[in-house]
Amino acid sequence: MDKILFLDTTLRDGEQTPGAVLNRLHKVEIARQLDRLGVDIIEAGFPASSNGNFQAVKEITQIVRRPVIAALARAVEDDILSAWEALKEAERPRIHVFIASSDIHIKYKYHSTRREILKRAVDAVSFAKSLCGDVEFSPEDASRSDLEFLYELLEAVIKAGATVINIPDTVGYSVPDEYGALIKNIIKNIPDNVIVSAHCHDDLGNAVSNSLAAIQNGARQIECTVNGIGERAGNASLEEIVMNLNARRDYFDFETSIDTTEISRTSRMVSSLMGIGVPPNKAVVGANVFTHESGIHQHGVLNDRRTYEIITPESIGLTTGKLPLSKLSGRHAFNEKLKELGYNLNNEAVDICFKSFKDYADRKSITDEDIRAIVNEYMDTLESVYELVSFQIQSGNNMKAMAMVTLSCRGAQLSEAALGDGPIDAAFNAINRLSGVNNEDIKLEEYNIKAITEGTDALGEARVKINIGGADYIGRSVSTDIIEASIRSYINALNKWAL
Ligand code: KIV
Ligand code: ZN
Repeated sequence: MDKILFLDTTLRDGEQTPGAVLNRLHKVEIARQLDRLGVDIIEAGFPASSNGNFQAVKEITQIVRRPVIAALARAVEDDILSAWEALKEAERPRIHVFIASSDIHIKYKYHSTRREILKRAVDAVSFAKSLCGDVEFSPEDASRSDLEFLYELLEAVIKAGATVINIPDTVGYSVPDEYGALIKNIIKNIPDNVIVSAHCHDDLGNAVSNSLAAIQNGARQIECTVNGIGERAGNASLEEIVMNLNARRDYFDFETSIDTTEISRTSRMVSSLMGIGVPPNKAVVGANVFTHESGIHQHGVLNDRRTYEIITPESIGLTTGKLPLSKLSGRHAFNEKLKELGYNLNNEAVDICFKSFKDYADRKSITDEDIRAIVNEYMDTLESVYELVSFQIQSGNNMKAMAMVTLSCRGAQLSEAALGDGPIDAAFNAINRLSGVNNEDIKLEEYNIKAITEGTDALGEARVKINIGGADYIGRSVSTDIIEASIRSYINALNKWAL
């Protein structure tokens, strides 16, 4: 039986989701979980893009040893050196070099020619190969490229040492038959020992179907992200491709290394650490997938779940928590719960999270969602520039609200007061003043507050999306006090900008 290799790019392409910013700690935790999920290759980042990205890739290579760890590089020497520097301690490193091959990119992005691009690609792959035995090459926007040029380019980079050829449908333009045929033709024209990989985006909603068509036409590596996150409409969703292969074994006869019972845990962790919710109707991992509303369906499912369910909750690891926690639970039970949820924190981190747990447990009953929120809060504040010290708010139905906020910033304490239309607006205005960003350059794009668990003692989760100078930053926080959760979420978003 042929094996399909899974390259997960949640930490690279997935991190390009507007507003999503992961710190080093988030990335290491996600990489560990991807390892447990069984992915074959983790694309850990794009080291030349920032020092934070470089450090995260480096740390992942030291901690996660089973999968291949890949790092992305443009076809320029500095990027490749930076990728190698970050990767070199990995057990199984891979440099992933890319350059666009479509005329529209060559002309308008590079102001270059096909000849020049071919030379740059070959030079870059040869250089990467001189550093690392495993080199993947991607002709960006492959699916909109001139076919003759694409074949010529692929032949040249394979000669230069690329052993994996990835075919990005960068703008999600392809339809399944067409993409499948492209993969088939490429495979016909390249040596057998080169792996052909599919990398599909979801602009027209075809990313998963295109990836499946690629598999049927000979692709043996699939690039995808957890929950299908990624730039614009996102990437092909890992869990959907895996569960297609799994639920339709009668149709797809392939082996994978994925442990499907880790899917639910991975999906929740990624959603929670990135601050990006999963739509309730999302295939495989949406909250409604195992919910049956109509009477006829309920009747069928009560008789036999297979009437309306083609995958089981157990097959994706969706089981109710084995370890309920109460306010009497000790540190050991708390740590076991962290492990059950997929977190692997050091002793100091467990101590800090355990203290928050005890504070909350005195006030309310604790659920798995609350524990995830506690861990998020801890990880978010670990690399923060601004921290909330205190706030005071005056508001009423016949007055403008007034907020006084004190933040600590790199050892100093700063306070500001501001008016606003209501307590949240006043507090956000005060924080804007403290940030030093001009009021016109900072916009609140989204603000949501919801109870993450049931009951009047529920933790309120606040999420904001702010735009500073054209870039989006998502922030979130939880508290039993929704004004405090709102203020903390705003500071969380500001920290992503300030880091
Ligand atoms: O979508 C794309 O083209 C990419 C490449 C850099 C592989 O993500
Ligand atoms: Zn991509």
